[in-house]
Amino acid sequence: MEPKSAKGVFDILPFDPDAEGKWRESHLWHYVEKVARECALTFGFQEIRTPLFERTELFERGVGQTTDIVTKEMYTFQDKGGRSLTLRPEGTAPMMRAFIEKNLAHYPSLNKYFYISSMFRYERQQAGRYRQHHQFGVEAIGNDSAYQDVEVIDLLYTFLLRLGLKNVQIKLNSIGNAESRTRYREQLKKYLYPHKLQLSEESQARFETNPLRILDSKNPQDKKILEQAPSLMEFLDRESHNHFVEVRTLLEELGISYYVDPFLVRGLDYYNKTVFEITAAELGAQNSLGGGGRYDGLMKELGGPDLPAFGFGVGIERTIITMLGQKIAFPAPTCPLFYIIPLGIEAMHYSFTLVSQLRKANLQTEMDFSGKKVKQSLRLADAIGARFIIVIGEEELKTKRVVVKEMSSKKEEVIGVEEIERYGKLHNRLHENT
Ligand code: HAM
Repeated sequence: MEPKSAKGVFDILPFDPDAEGKWRESHLWHYVEKVARECALTFGFQEIRTPLFERTELFERGVGQTTDIVTKEMYTFQDKGGRSLTLRPEGTAPMMRAFIEKNLAHYPSLNKYFYISSMFRYERQQAGRYRQHHQFGVEAIGNDSAYQDVEVIDLLYTFLLRLGLKNVQIKLNSIGNAESRTRYREQLKKYLYPHKLQLSEESQARFETNPLRILDSKNPQDKKILEQAPSLMEFLDRESHNHFVEVRTLLEELGISYYVDPFLVRGLDYYNKTVFEITAAELGAQNSLGGGGRYDGLMKELGGPDLPAFGFGVGIERTIITMLGQKIAFPAPTCPLFYIIPLGIEAMHYSFTLVSQLRKANLQTEMDFSGKKVKQSLRLADAIGARFIIVIGEEELKTKRVVVKEMSSKKEEVIGVEEIERYGKLHNRLHENT
């Protein structure tokens, strides 16, 4: 058997030797996930972890029968009991399912949730598009005001800003209520009908199943045809229109710049009123960093109470790739504070106990127990970025005094062994950046 990962998936490693693989290094993920958690908590969102798989019908009903996700991209399988299960392709429907199942509407709570989870979609492999990807997502349940929309957009914006991202663009649109979309759909079909045969194959198929998604087409010929298409904006119901005006006012009050993209419809069926996407030029064709919107009917559709909701999902892969593309500095990965090199069997036992004690004091410490030559140990200590080296031999055991050598400055200090912990705490910058 060839030891090769499945197509479209990847490992997240402490160090990726592949020149293109820097974004897969785990310390970058730790940092982005840490900032995501901090931002979510600051905005009053609490963590939810749903199972990796759900009953297939949840996504069929939740995400929509005609969406690409449901028709082409789900990892669906039968378990040994003959049940149809699906690896979650997105996080919103599982969140709704958990909320309904646990009756969470009956408890006093802010009902604001976040998740950092892997998602699975059988997509054509290309840069920025994977078959397992990871999202930081949030869902705010129970409030239908424009404030809720903008609070969530502000959270995503704050997250990207804290990471230091520049030149991200917020695309905003309103897709109104179901009736306004039905009226628009008819007009759009009427407009597209004479051009139907010139449309891309995919758009021709969508003409029957989900014509609004044609607006999202990246095909240049489709785009040209769409230039003269009627705009969804003109068909908005009054309530959605007023809501959209309020969202725009609030965004402007917070100083969040955006532009209205009347062709933004998003690829999942549950949205109504506000939809938005954040894009970054560094991502090329797959330029969407994150997106979301309002989905007031989903909870009811899934058999729960009729509660409005608003949320987003942002791709962690794409966030890290964009940060690297913009040359944004990440905190350095943590490195050992001490690297201890024992000489001889007695020193080995002594050092092993010392290392254990230092670690209990939260000091990152490594020791060489491979019995390598000192020169080789020093080379490894240097490669893993150890800050101080302590060699323990017969003399040190006798005098209970050691030389602590700083690798970068080559400065040496002689201290008593009982002082190592205090010395370490003084110099410990271990958790400073993590
Ligand atoms: P989505 O637009 O399908 O929305 O995905 C959100 C983000 O996940 C995308 O903007 C992108 O960064 C990332 N993403 C999606 N598919 C892939 C892929 N194959 N490879 C890499 N990254 C990917 C949702 O999933 C909605 N549940 C968001 C939401 C939450 N709406 C309301 N609440």
